[in-house]
Amino acid sequence: MCGSASLWGVVVAAGSGERYGDRKQFVALAGRLVVERACDVFPSDAVIGVVVALPSDPPLLRLPGHAVTVTGGATRRASVRAALGRIPRTADLVAVHDAARPLATPALLFRLLAALHADPGAAGAVPVVPVTDALKRREGSALRSVDRSPLVITQTPQLFRADLLRRAHAEAPEGMPGFDDAEVVEAIGGRVLAVDGDLDNRKLTHPGDLSWLAASCL
Ligand code: CTP
Ligand code: MG
Repeated sequence: MCGSASLWGVVVAAGSGERYGDRKQFVALAGRLVVERACDVFPSDAVIGVVVALPSDPPLLRLPGHAVTVTGGATRRASVRAALGRIPRTADLVAVHDAARPLATPALLFRLLAALHADPGAAGAVPVVPVTDALKRREGSALRSVDRSPLVITQTPQLFRADLLRRAHAEAPEGMPGFDDAEVVEAIGGRVLAVDGDLDNRKLTHPGDLSWLAASCL
């Protein structure tokens, strides 16, 4: 699918889980840790993984072949940067995945690989799903409706050419939120492809998300 290109997987798991109220990536979900399930998106031993966690975190049990653990940073962007520091310059592609997304599938990663392979000028490929709720902008106490038709929600894994992702994390303005890596790559002018995501690939964000995710694991 990606020819002979070497692919590295990064699972970012150093967040504090403020909205969840706990380090949600280490919660058990149908018998396995959420972060362990997230690692399943990288299907084979050919993929070498970097898991970004904190030194005090519990040891991870079933990681993909050859995975190494590095210490994350105060922001998601800093955590990705820490991972990039462990990835050799010979890497061709890097896929960054949230530890808090336990239901992402290898099939989704293959779709990203196929899209990027088909477009050599693109910097990366990112899964998206449509916005289904009505959107409004708050203007004081009033609401103004927003056209949702061109808008999408991004997910992970997000796949990038390794050199561009490295340059983006080095050169993009420090102040930008960096909610995802696509934002960081766009900031240096990289063109990121939209690929159909999966509605099931939801992120564990609030405690109420856990029961939905657990039901989807059965
Ligand atoms: N993450 C990380 N390092 C950080 C912040 C976030 O590795 N400093 C990771 C989280 O562990 C998670 C992913 O980035 O797997 C997506 O972030 P999010 O859902 O926002 O998780 P948290 O930042 O932990 O949650 P919150 O924003 O509610 O504190
Ligand atoms: Mg966060």
